[in-house]
Amino acid sequence: MSIYPSSSVYREPNSSQFRRLNRRSVVIRALLKGRRKTKMLTRAFSRSLSSHKRMASESTSVSKRSIRYRSAVTHQPEFLEMIDKVERLKRTNTYFYMRNLESASGASVIVGGRRMIMMGSNNYLGLTTHPLVKQAAIRAIEEYGTGAGGVRILSGTYRLHEQLEERLAELKQTEASVVFVGGYLTNLAAVSTLAELGYVLINDEKNHASIIDGCKVRKARASFYRHNDMAHLEKLLLNGNRGDERFVIADGVFSMDGDIADVPAMLNLTRQYGAKTYVDDAHATGVLGTHGRGTAEYFGVEGQIDIIVGTLSKALGAVGGFVAGPRDLVVYLKHASRAFVFGSALPPSVAATALAALDVIRDEPEHLHRLHQNTRRVSEGLKDLGFEVRYNGTPILPVIVGEEDRAYRLARLLDQYGVFVNPVAYPAVKPREARIRISVNALLTDRDIGDALLAFKRAGISLGLI
Ligand SMILES: Cc1ncc(COP(=O)(O)O)c(C=O)c1O
Repeated sequence: MSIYPSSSVYREPNSSQFRRLNRRSVVIRALLKGRRKTKMLTRAFSRSLSSHKRMASESTSVSKRSIRYRSAVTHQPEFLEMIDKVERLKRTNTYFYMRNLESASGASVIVGGRRMIMMGSNNYLGLTTHPLVKQAAIRAIEEYGTGAGGVRILSGTYRLHEQLEERLAELKQTEASVVFVGGYLTNLAAVSTLAELGYVLINDEKNHASIIDGCKVRKARASFYRHNDMAHLEKLLLNGNRGDERFVIADGVFSMDGDIADVPAMLNLTRQYGAKTYVDDAHATGVLGTHGRGTAEYFGVEGQIDIIVGTLSKALGAVGGFVAGPRDLVVYLKHASRAFVFGSALPPSVAATALAALDVIRDEPEHLHRLHQNTRRVSEGLKDLGFEVRYNGTPILPVIVGEEDRAYRLARLLDQYGVFVNPVAYPAVKPREARIRISVNALLTDRDIGDALLAFKRAGISLGLI
C-alpha cells in the first residue's frame, strides 16, 4: 500500500502516523518497482470505484468471492474486482464516469440527446467556445497542420510554442517557462526533476496526484504537512536538515475543496528557513487575482514564488501544462526532462489556442467578473435553500451531503432534472463528507443558475436534505 497521501485517497493521519509517514517517505524507492506500482495504481482506482458500492449493488455486497468477471489477461484479484465493478455499475445505471458529451461544453451540454446545464467542467471562463480562441486554433491548423510531427528538441518546435512560453513567463512574472503536453505530465516532470537534483520536497498532504507521483522517483526525499497547516510546515522545516536544498510544494487552489493555499505564510516560512516555493496554479490561472494571473496576483506576491506550474486545460480552454521559473531550470528541463525530450510536442494549434485564450483573459475581463459573480450566486442560492456549501472564493463549490448514498442519489436526481455535476465520495474525501462538486463557469446565465437551483431544491426536498 502506498505510504503517500494521495489526492485520490483521503486520510487524516495522527501525528505519530505523520512522523512515521515522513520517516518512511525517505525510503520509498521500492514503490517505483513495476509490479508494486501497477498494483498501487490499480488499488487507488479500485478504491475510488468502491465508493459507488452501496448504490451500485443496491443491496448486494461487493466481495472478492462475488466477482463474476473472468479475464484472459490476468487473475490478479484487484484487476478482476475493478473490471467487475465497472460492469456492475453500468448494469445498475450508477456509473457516473466518462459520460459522452455530444456538443461543445459551455453553459450547457448535450448528453444522451438531452441538453443539460453544465456545472461540472473546468472550462471556467467558457473559452473553449470563444470565437477568437476557436479562430486562432482553426487558423493554426490551416497554416501548420494538425500535429507537431516530432519532439520539441528535434523537429517539433514551432514559433507558437516559444511565443506561448514567453507569454506564460510574463503572466507568472518569472524569467522563463516551458510547455509540456499535459498538466499531469508537467508536475510529474518538474517534481521528479527537482527530486533527482537532490531537493527535499515538502508537500501539502492534499497536493494533486501528479505532484505526489513526481515525488516517487528513485532518489526522492519527500515529506508531508497537514493540509494548509503552516505550524506543521514550520515543524518540518525546523526539524529538517538545514544543509539540504528544500522545496515547499502546494496546489494554489486545491481541487476537491476549492480552498486556496496560504501562499504568503508559505513564503514567510521558506524565506525564514532558506527553502524555495513551488505552487501549482492549475485551478488558479485565469481564475484568481484581478487579472486572472493566479495565486500570486491574488495575494499580491507576484515575482516571489520560485516555481509556478499550471495547466492549459482548465481556464485556458486547451490542453497541456507549463513550468514557469528561473531560466536555467527551464533550460535544464528542456534538455534533461524525459517527459519533454522523449515526448512529441504540443500541436501548434493547441499553442495558438492557449495564446488566444491569454489574449482574451487580458482584453476581456468581463469573463472573470462573470465567473465570480456566478459562483457567488450559485453558492448563496444553495445556502439559502439550506444546503451546506463551502465557498472559498474559487469556482469549485463542494455541496456537502454526508453519506455517499445521498451524494449519488442527489447526482442521479440532478441528472434527471438536467444538471450535470460530479458526485465525490470517500475515499476521495473524508468519510461522511460525500458531496456534489460543482464547477461554476462564466457562461451560465441567470436563467441557467435559476433552473439549476430549482433542480437542487426539488432534489434536496425529495431526498430530505433540505
Ligand atoms: C491541481 C492540479 N494540478 C494538475 C492537474 C493536471 O492537469 P491536466 O488535467 O491538465 O493534466 C490537475 C487536474 O485536474 C489539478 O487539479
